[in-house]
Amino acid sequence: MPPASRGTRPLSRGTRERGASPRPRPPPITQTTRTEPPMSEQQSGQQIERIRLGAEGPLVGVQGLGCMGMSEFYGATDDTAARETLAAALDAGVTLFDTADIYGRGANEEFLAPFLADHRDEVVIATKFGVERTDDPAYRGVRNDPGYVREAVERSLRRLGIEVIDLYYMHRRDPAVPLAESVGAMAELVERGLVRHLGLSEVTGAELREAHAVHPIAALQSEWSLFSRDVERTAVPAAAELGIAMVPYSPLGRGFLTGAFSGPGATLSAGDYRSHLPRFTGGNARANAELLAPVRRIAEAHGATTGQVALAWVQQRSEAHGLPVVPIPGTRKASRLRENTAATRLRLTAADLAALEPIAGRVAGDRYPDMTFTSAARE
Ligand SMILES: NC(=O)c1ccc[n+]([C@@H]2O[C@H](COP(=O)([O-])OP(=O)(O)OC[C@H]3O[C@@H](n4cnc5c(N)ncnc54)[C@H](OP(=O)(O)O)[C@@H]3O)[C@@H](O)[C@H]2O)c1
Repeated sequence: MPPASRGTRPLSRGTRERGASPRPRPPPITQTTRTEPPMSEQQSGQQIERIRLGAEGPLVGVQGLGCMGMSEFYGATDDTAARETLAAALDAGVTLFDTADIYGRGANEEFLAPFLADHRDEVVIATKFGVERTDDPAYRGVRNDPGYVREAVERSLRRLGIEVIDLYYMHRRDPAVPLAESVGAMAELVERGLVRHLGLSEVTGAELREAHAVHPIAALQSEWSLFSRDVERTAVPAAAELGIAMVPYSPLGRGFLTGAFSGPGATLSAGDYRSHLPRFTGGNARANAELLAPVRRIAEAHGATTGQVALAWVQQRSEAHGLPVVPIPGTRKASRLRENTAATRLRLTAADLAALEPIAGRVAGDRYPDMTFTSAARE
């Protein structure tokens, strides 16, 4: 999502469970056991495993789907292709679908409504409140006050066309509003039956503990990828300790880790939000492209794509940190959805992980042009 700027409020280890899939699941693919076609060519036919999203959260496919780009931010949208992607996701065993009230200023929630009407029982729908937009496209405000929470949930329910939101996140934290008041208002939504589980996005470890003391938090959604690891400082350890799941957003580095921005002629279309992001521009983009060299080598060894290596890496953080991890890569294309879910069966070796370890420390440019409302700014 775009950075917030100053406005109204200027911006236990998971138990892996067998899924309900009728299809057999193969063992994880490793360099030594792979007997199937290369991962990069695997397109369909297998469902992903399921995992519990936090100690008391819902059972979900171990990879979710980010729906943001289907309505805004990453260039031209195509509703037909997006609907095919949603169908492919269900077919692959994806159950966690991620949106927010600000994506397309409500358009993304509205786009998902017919899909939810057809598949309500198969889908765990997650949406978010807390970032405010106006007619000024550049404006972002952050609102966490209880009155705003109560109004925002009604708007999201109406746009999604559902009676209850499965997972409701506070999108950004406004430090001027006591966290207990915001989470208290969110807890009231659970009591009223409007929301099933609570989540937070871009909060620090201390904030996660404070919120969890008010009401159980099922999931923390923050940026986490080979390129973005600041969340490992305090938020991930706190989540692991409290039995809260991590839902890494932008696990493909907003597409950079797929290699799409490192070749000749790789440009961003007019209006693509990434043209405002420090990592995608000028010298930073060129320097960051060079960081993909070890990712490419590892991908080649596994017969995988660089995006699949990036997704496998973040998934394997689950073992490194002792908590459930359910990344939500965003794509608008069914073929890419299948490529991404196939990555849940890619098993990186200890040597692979060691080679990937230094990358994040060498990335040029911040995650956002204005880091004010990220967790990193408050640590
Ligand atoms: N909580 C927050 O503040 C926050 C912030 C940002 C995002 N999010 C959520 O997280 C989700 C994912 O993050 P994201 O979309 O920003 O970044 P991402 O998942 O890291 O990357 C998405 C980009 O990668 C491309 N891509 C996906 N799969 C690909 C593949 N197999 N091969 C080549 N390119 C591929 C997509 O293009 P195509 O669509 O053309 O395939 C898109 O441009 C969002 O949809 C949103 O729901 C939350």
